[in-house]
Amino acid sequence: MDKNALNTARAPQLPGAVLFDAYGTLLDVYSVGLLAEQLFPGHGQALGVLWRDKQIDYTRLVTTSRSGPERASVYQPFWELTSAALRYACKKLGLALSAGQEQQLMNQYRHLSAFPENREVLQALKSRGIVTGILSNGDPDMLGVAVRSAGLDGLLDHVISVDSIRQYKTHPEAYALGTQALGLPAAQVVFVSSNGWDALGATWFGYQTLWVNRYQLPPEEIGPPPVRTGHSLRDVLAFFEP
Ligand code: LAC
Repeated sequence: MDKNALNTARAPQLPGAVLFDAYGTLLDVYSVGLLAEQLFPGHGQALGVLWRDKQIDYTRLVTTSRSGPERASVYQPFWELTSAALRYACKKLGLALSAGQEQQLMNQYRHLSAFPENREVLQALKSRGIVTGILSNGDPDMLGVAVRSAGLDGLLDHVISVDSIRQYKTHPEAYALGTQALGLPAAQVVFVSSNGWDALGATWFGYQTLWVNRYQLPPEEIGPPPVRTGHSLRDVLAFFEP
């Protein structure tokens, strides 16, 4: 057999598309900490972290649980889980959250800051003809506002929300929304997330993964590691260097 032909056949294919997680990856979820600090001096950072953790906790709870003998779905949209998580986090920290403060913080969450390198990376991918999209737990309304207010509209080919199937990542059906929308197998798609658990779920699903470790966290102790680990969105470009 021709040795070169064998090598070519086995060479990993360059990916045809990139999917990004939204919250934490394109959008800085801890940017609400500044407003939280103004409202609750000395507690902004703790509130930001607990709020985020509880929000993700709730997504898992409603995805894996069913209610009553008919085993009805207990799904709630991401916006509702996010406000419930905020109320919980405030109670846990002993902070009295007024209706006005809740509205202020939720409004800030709707207009989260984008990470500074996003536009340049999305433009670089676009100029190389690579299809891009978001695959997020956020509901369509939240994602629409976030993409516009972060100035990313026109730079993404797909904005995919798990809301259509009422199951959050890391459920495989949530990841499958990406391959269905792109018409590509998972192995030909790069999935980018700053959330270690999301990068792991996507790796299990079969995507090529980039974990953007923005906060110098240790890698997950279970499962296969991501294909690559980086520190900014720019590291996605390495997948397209032959
Ligand atoms: C998302 C959250 C989980 O955008 O970061 O899906």
